[in-house]
Amino acid sequence: MVATLLVLAAILLVIAAAVGYFVFASFVFGAGYQPTPRRAVERMLRLAEVSERDTLYDLGAGTGAIVFRAARIYRARVVAVEVEPIRVLILRVRRALGPFSDRITIRWGNLFRLDFREASVVTTFLWPDAMARLRPKFERELENGARLVSHHHEVPGWVPEVYDPETHVYLYRWPSARRAPRSSPTITDGA
Ligand SMILES: C[S@@+](CC[C@H](N)C(=O)[O-])C[C@H]1O[C@@H](n2cnc3c(N)ncnc32)[C@H](O)[C@@H]1O
Repeated sequence: MVATLLVLAAILLVIAAAVGYFVFASFVFGAGYQPTPRRAVERMLRLAEVSERDTLYDLGAGTGAIVFRAARIYRARVVAVEVEPIRVLILRVRRALGPFSDRITIRWGNLFRLDFREASVVTTFLWPDAMARLRPKFERELENGARLVSHHHEVPGWVPEVYDPETHVYLYRWPSARRAPRSSPTITDGA
């Protein structure tokens, strides 16, 4: 009986450690793991008017909530960068098993070392500190007209063109996002 309980406790401990690792290990890099809900993904891609003409960079791609939708439904070319190796493996398996794999590039690495010059759309769901660290990099590297859509966290000091309070999505357009607001951002009704 005691032995059984010990084995059960050990199994639970291993499961808790695995889940803890999966969710929290990447915290130090810029965010833990939490997939963007489907409704917010849809909102982000629509607000950014993603199309087959776009190259979308998903910074911290997780298991691909944005990546595969952007490539399959919106036909964008997608560059997915992810630091955590298990998630990179999941992204690669999903890409291999699905259509449009030629549109998706997966990079295992730190998004702060990636050059954003080729991106016409950037998507983020990263912690506030990471957004603050990214701001000067965005300002150096984003091309005029590039759109940035962020779930939950703002780019500090930038002015969103649209904010959707229902899905917590911010749309920015570079370089007008840097200018002082003439009016408040459009707040959508979430429809
Ligand atoms: C909140 S999740 C969002 C995942 C995905 N973008 C989505 O919308 O479902 C943030 C992801 O960013 C990754 N990440 C955090 N810091 C990173 C960094 N410096 N470089 C690359 N990936 C990073 C984490 O491993 C995690 O998978």
